[in-house]
This record gives sequence, structure tokens and C-alpha cells, in this order.
Amino acid sequence: MSQLLPLFNVGFLLLFHHTHSTNLQILLDVKTSFIQDPQNVLRNWSDKNPSYCNWTGVTCAGKFSQVVGLNFSGASLIGSISPSISLLRNLIHLDLSSNHLSGPIPSNISTLTSLSTLFMFSNKLFGHILVEIGSLYSLQVLRIGDNRFTSSIPSSIGDLQNLVVLGL
Ligand SMILES: *[C@@H]1O[C@H](CO)[C@@H](O)[C@H](O)[C@H]1NC(C)=O
Ligand SMILES: *[C@@H]1O[C@H](CO)[C@@H](O)[C@H](O)[C@H]1NC(C)=O
Ligand SMILES: *[C@@H]1O[C@H](CO)[C@@H](O)[C@H](O)[C@H]1NC(C)=O
Ligand SMILES: *[C@@H]1O[C@H](CO)[C@@H](O)[C@H](O)[C@H]1NC(C)=O
Repeated sequence: MSQLLPLFNVGFLLLFHHTHSTNLQILLDVKTSFIQDPQNVLRNWSDKNPSYCNWTGVTCAGKFSQVVGLNFSGASLIGSISPSISLLRNLIHLDLSSNHLSGPIPSNISTLTSLSTLFMFSNKLFGHILVEIGSLYSLQVLRIGDNRFTSSIPSSIGDLQNLVVLGL
């Protein structure tokens, strides 16, 4: 057993390093779709400052520093929502409410099955409210009202059996 331990540690470090650089890159990709940031909330989102768990708006958990929360509520961000957000597969809370974000909700956000809170209200989002939203089975709070969506409410929202708060 004692001979196995160093190997285990190397494996842990490699996995940690891999996870860390992957999350860092995903967050930098997410940043690129926020094209204007008048309050400069993203100023420390930089690979020169690689401790992404300390970046403004980011919450991490666990020994692999998984990103479990993103919160830019009221940050005056202009731009759109990057589909790369869907690669943060441990995300539990996503709050982009009260910004100036336009464009659609990226459809592959439906792969974020740990998501419990999804706030996108008070933006300028348009397009369809995702039919795929029904696969976010952990959702407890969904608030996406005060936007410019053109579709009707998909009946798949009825599949969200854990939902306690709904604002459309
Ligand atoms: C990023 O900025 C926030 C807010 O100013 C600050 O609390 C945090 O410590 C900064 N993080 C790093 C890694 O500089
Ligand atoms: C995060 O920021 C705090 C306070 O600014 C600092 O004490 C801590 O070392 C930073 N953590 C990392 C991983 O950089
Ligand atoms: C995001 O941060 C704001 C304060 O800046 C807070 O009121 C809100 O509850 C947070 N959102 C979530 C989902 O925790
Ligand atoms: C979502 O779309 C982006 C951009 O097209 C892609 O990089 C990413 O792999 C997709 N995510 C998933 C979970 O398929």
C-alpha cells in the first residue's frame, strides 16, 4: 500500500492540474461573450491571475476546485451568454440577472443537470425559451422573466419536478 501512495498522489496532481486548466479556459471562453463590462467586474478574470476560484462572481467547491456558482447579477454586462457555460458541468447556481445580455439562451445549457438556480431575468434575451429546459431536473428556482422571448412557454417546464419558484 505504501508503494501505491506516491503513484496515487501523482495521479491526483495530474487530475487536479487538468481540471484546473480546463476550468480556467472555460471561464475565459465564457468571458469573451461579455463584450462590454462597464463596472469592470471581470477585471481579475485573467490567465495572469489563475486562481479562478477567487475571481469576482465565481464560487468553487471540492478538492478539484469545481466551479459551482457564477453570479453577475446587476453587473451591467453587455453581450451574450456563451454556450461554453455548458462545459461547467458542476454548476449549481447561475445568476446573470439584471444585465444587458441579448441573444438566445444557449441550448446546450440543458446539459447542466446539477443546476438548481437559474436566474436570467431582466436582460434583453430573445429567441425561444428552450424546450430542452425540461431536462434540467435539479432546477428548484427558475426566473427568466423581463426579457424579449418570442416563443410560448414550453410544456417541458412541467417536467421540472423539483421546481419551487418559477418566474417567466
Ligand atoms: C478579484 O476581485 C474581487 C473583487 O474586487 C476580490 O475580492 C478578489 O480577491 C479578486 N481576486 C483575485 C484573485 O485577485
Ligand atoms: C484568494 O484571495 C484571498 C484574499 O484576497 C487570499 O488570501 C487567498 O490566498 C487567495 N486564494 C488563492 C488560491 O489565490
Ligand atoms: C447573486 O448575488 C446577489 C448580490 O450581489 C445576491 O442578491 C443573489 O442572491 C445572488 N444570486 C444567487 C443565485 O445566489
Ligand atoms: C455547447 O456549445 C459550445 C459551443 O458550440 C461547445 O463548445 C460545447 O462543447 C457545447 N457543450 C456541450 C455540453 O455540448
